[in-house]
Amino acid sequence: MDRGYLIALEGVDGTGKSTQCGLLADYLESSGCPVVRLREPTTGVWGRKIRKILTEGRGGVTPEEELRYFINDRKEDVERNIAPALEQGKVVLIDRYYYSTAAYQGALGFDPDKIIRDNEAFAPRPDRVFIIQVSLDESFRRIEQSRDSVSAFEKREYLEKVRNIFDTFTGEHIRRIDSGPPVEEVQAVLRREVNALLGLKETS
Ligand code: TYD
Repeated sequence: MDRGYLIALEGVDGTGKSTQCGLLADYLESSGCPVVRLREPTTGVWGRKIRKILTEGRGGVTPEEELRYFINDRKEDVERNIAPALEQGKVVLIDRYYYSTAAYQGALGFDPDKIIRDNEAFAPRPDRVFIIQVSLDESFRRIEQSRDSVSAFEKREYLEKVRNIFDTFTGEHIRRIDSGPPVEEVQAVLRREVNALLGLKETS
């Protein structure tokens, strides 16, 4: 039975990950690929609880509860969206997945490797994970340029820990992409990688 492909884009805030994800989705669609574009946190019930933390701060939400919200959100996403799309042979492009949980909630003190193991017990492993990276100074410049206010998760000291954890992830399915160059150049690198993964011919 043909399973589709699961491709995750990961990285700290302000790397341009979401822009790249959108451009990649457009490219795959125009190449005739059946693409499903997803994003975590989702807009479901758990995702809405998470967005509240992002806009209003952590308040009384404990790290354990926060971790549980992300896991529950992902379980719902796997059941409703990810697993069905993969079964239908689609290319699932996801903006953040469990490596974000390992890095962001790992930065709160949880063991990142355990978070990955716990997630892999229910969430399909991506065929490819692109960790989009840029210097923290540049990330902050981009965050400040694009938003009126920074979220509870976008404090420098915290993001430094998050970035350090992202730096520890290894595996054959993981690629690191430098997003220092202009958007189109970064996109070209991603397209080459994805073409190779999916067996698509080079177009541009
Ligand atoms: P994101 O949607 O990338 O941010 P934005 O709303 O600015 O586009 O993600 C929201 C935040 O959630 C981001 O700071 C990272 C954080 N996050 C976690 O802490 N753990 C997770 O498991 C995920 C998926 C996201």
